[in-house]
Amino acid sequence: MRPIQMVDTRSQYHKIKAQVDTAVAEVMESSAFINGKAVQDFSENLAEYIGSKHCIPCANGTDALQIAMMALDLRPGDEVITPSFTYIATTEVIALLRLTPVFAEVDAKTFCIDPASVEKLITPKTKAIVPVHLYGQAAPMEEIMAIAKKHDLYVIEDNAQAIGCDYIFSGNKKKKTGTIGHIGTTSFYPSKNLGAFGDGGAIFTDDDELGNKMKMITNHGQSKRYYHDIVGCNSRLDTLQAAILNIKLKYLDEYIAARRKVADYYDAAFANEKKITTAFRAPYSYHVFHQYTLLVEGGENPNDYRNGLNEFLAKHDIPSMLYYPVPGHKQKMFEHFNVSSQSMPVTDWLTERVISLPMHTELDEEQLSFITTKVLEYFKK
Ligand SMILES: Cc1ncc(COP(=O)(O)O)c(C=O)c1O
Repeated sequence: MRPIQMVDTRSQYHKIKAQVDTAVAEVMESSAFINGKAVQDFSENLAEYIGSKHCIPCANGTDALQIAMMALDLRPGDEVITPSFTYIATTEVIALLRLTPVFAEVDAKTFCIDPASVEKLITPKTKAIVPVHLYGQAAPMEEIMAIAKKHDLYVIEDNAQAIGCDYIFSGNKKKKTGTIGHIGTTSFYPSKNLGAFGDGGAIFTDDDELGNKMKMITNHGQSKRYYHDIVGCNSRLDTLQAAILNIKLKYLDEYIAARRKVADYYDAAFANEKKITTAFRAPYSYHVFHQYTLLVEGGENPNDYRNGLNEFLAKHDIPSMLYYPVPGHKQKMFEHFNVSSQSMPVTDWLTERVISLPMHTELDEEQLSFITTKVLEYFKK
C-alpha cells in the first residue's frame, strides 16, 4: 500500500507533470515573474469558472480577506461578525485592521455560521458579516444575505475552503460560493481544492468600484505608475503560480468529484457506527469536501476520546487532523476583546469532537479500506 497522507499533492502533480513543467519552463524563459501573461489569463479563466465579473489575484487567502476589508473602508472599532469556529486567518485580519471581531455560533450539523446567532449580535457598530464556507460546505447564504440587507451590512464570503461549491437557492437557482456576497475571497494554499505550488489567493466581486479599488490596494494603492491614491499593500500572485493554477483549474471539477467519491466511501463505511456522525451534506450546498470531518462521541471525556482516535490512527501511520482544537473566541490574541468567556456551546462542543480524515484526490480503495478499518477498530476497543 502507498503511504497514506493527509494531502497528496505530489501524486496529483505527477498526473499533470508534462503540462505543468512546460508551463513553468515558459514562465522561466519569459522571465516575467511578476504580473506575467499567465496572471491575467488565470484571472479571466477563474472569473469565468466562478461566475464573477472581477477576479483579482493576490498573494494568499489571508491578504484577500484583508484587502476586502480595506476596500470597504471599515474604521477602527467597527464590528465584524464571523464564526469562532474557523481558521484563524478569517478573524485575525479583522483585529489586524483594528476592527472588532464579534464571534457568532455555528450550526452543529453544517459547522457553518448560524444566522440566528448573527442576528442577535448585530449592534449599531456592526458593519460586515464574514461567513466561512467551512470544510467545503456552503454557509447558509440566503439567510445571511437577508440579514445583511435588513441591517445594511456588507458580506464578505471566506471561500478559502470551498472553491467550486455550488449554493442552491430556494428557487433552485445555483451560484458558486464566493459570488453571492459583496465580496468573496479564496486561497490557493497547496492543500486547498485548487492548490498552487506555493501561496496564492484571489478576490471576487461584481461591483466595478470595489473591483477597481481592490486591484489598486493589491498594488500599493496605485492608480497609474508611481501615483498612489490610497493606502494599499503589496499582494501579488506569482506568474509561476498563476501558470500552474491555470492548468489545475481545468481539472477542478474532476478533483471535486474525486473528493466526493472519497466522502461517499467514508459515509458508507461509518454508517452503522453509532459513535460516529459522518459529514452532513446540507441540501442547499454542493459539498466539495476540502475536509472530511467526523464527529466522535464516546468515553467519559469526549475530548480525550477523540484525541485517542487521533493517536490510535497515528500509530497505524494514518494521519488525521483536529480542525480546529481552539476556537477563535478562546485564542490568546483576542483576549483583550474579552470574548473567552462568551457562551459558545455549539462551538465548544464541536471543538472537542471533530476529527478530519485524509482527504484528497489520490486516495485509492486499498488506502480507504485500511483507514476505515482502523477507524472502526478504535470504536470496538
Ligand atoms: C477558512 C480559511 N480562511 C482563510 C485562509 C487563509 O488562506 P492562506 O493560507 O492562503 O492565507 C484559509 C487557509 O489557510 C482558510 O482555511
